Amino acid sequence: MNNVKAAITGVGGYVPDYILTNKELETMVETSDEWITSRTGIKERRILKGENQGVSVMGAAAVKDLLTKTKTDPKDIDLIIFATVTPDMPFPASANIVAAEVGATNAFSFDISAACSGFIYALTTGAKYIESGMYKKVIVIGGDKMSSIINYKDRTTCIIFGDGAGAVLLEPTTDQVGIIDSIHRSDGTGANYLNMKAGGSRIPASHESIDQHLHYVYQEGASVFKFAVTNMADISAKIMERNNLKGDDVSWLAPHQANKRIIDATADRMGITEDKVMMNIEKYGNTTAGTIPLLLWDYEKKLKKGDNIIIAAFGGGFTWGSVYVKWAYTAN
Ligand code: UT7
Repeated sequence: MNNVKAAITGVGGYVPDYILTNKELETMVETSDEWITSRTGIKERRILKGENQGVSVMGAAAVKDLLTKTKTDPKDIDLIIFATVTPDMPFPASANIVAAEVGATNAFSFDISAACSGFIYALTTGAKYIESGMYKKVIVIGGDKMSSIINYKDRTTCIIFGDGAGAVLLEPTTDQVGIIDSIHRSDGTGANYLNMKAGGSRIPASHESIDQHLHYVYQEGASVFKFAVTNMADISAKIMERNNLKGDDVSWLAPHQANKRIIDATADRMGITEDKVMMNIEKYGNTTAGTIPLLLWDYEKKLKKGDNIIIAAFGGGFTWGSVYVKWAYTAN
C-alpha cells in the first residue's frame, strides 16, 4: 500500500492592522465589553480597510509569508486551494488571483466554499493530491473578509466576526507524520440557520435585496450553537476512537474559533484539558475559514515533530469535520 502522507511543512499568516475592539463596538450597537467577553471570549478582531481590498490581499500576504519562511520558489507550487466564502468576486476564483499575485505561474488553483469548515475541507482535498503522488507542493489557504458581509447595526453578528487568512504548505513524506485521517460531513438543511440570502443566483443583487439587508450574514445564533457543540464533539470523538487516541494522547486540539463556550464544551467532551487547546479567539474573533490556519500560525513555535493534533470545525452549510494531523517539524 502507498504509505506517502501529506505533511504540513510550513505555515504563513496575515491579519490586517486595524483592530476593532469591544469598546468601539459599544459605540456602534447596544452591547458591552462584558457581554461580548463573557458570551464569546472575544476582545477584539481585525478589519481590512481600504478601497478594492478583497480577501485575495490577505490570502496573498499569507502565502508570501509562507513562501519566505519555507524558502519555496513560487514556480515550484503545483496547486493552490483557497477556502473562502468571501471571494473577491463570484468569479474568477480568489485562488487564481492569489496564484498570479505570488508568482505561482506553474500552478492550477481553485476555491472551496464550506464556510467555517472550508480550511479542513481544503486540507483534506490538498492532501489527496499529495498522497496520490500527483503533486509535490500544494498550498492550502483559509481566509475570509467577513467585514464585507457583516451588518454593523446587527449586534448578534457584528461582535463575532473578523478578517484574516492563513496558509499551509503540503509536501509528501514517508516519515509517519502528516495528515493521518479526516472525517467530513455536511447537512444542507442547516442553510436555514446560517446564510447570506442574496448575491447568488437565487436572489441576484437588486435595490430590493439591498433594502431588505439580504447581503449580510444571517444567523440564528442559539440554534447554530447547539449544532456546533454536538457535531464538533461527536466527530472529534469519532476520529480519536478510530485512531485509538485517548485524551492524554492528544497534544493539541485546534478548534474552529467561533465562540469560547463552544470550544470549552468540545474540549470537555473530548477529555482534553484547557492547556492543550489552541485559542486566539480573543484577538481575532471568528475569521471563518481563517481560524484554523491562524491558530497553527500563532502556535507554530510551540509545536513539536510527532505532536498529535486534532483539528475540528463546524460552520455554515451546515458543514463540519475533524482532521488528525501528526505534526511534521519542530520550528527553530
Ligand atoms: O462560525 C460558524 C458557526 N457559528 C457559531 O458557531 C456561532 C454560534 N452561536 C453563538 O456563538 C452564540 O449563539 C452568539 C454569540 C451568537 C449569541 O450568544 P447567545 O448566548 O446564544 O445569545 P442569544 O442569541 O441566546 O441571546 C441572549 C440575549 C438576547 O436578549 P434577550 O432576548 O434574552 O433579552 C439577545 O438579544 O442576549 C442578547 N444579545 C446581546 N446583548 C448584548 C445578543 N447579542 C448581544 C450583544 N450584546 N452583542
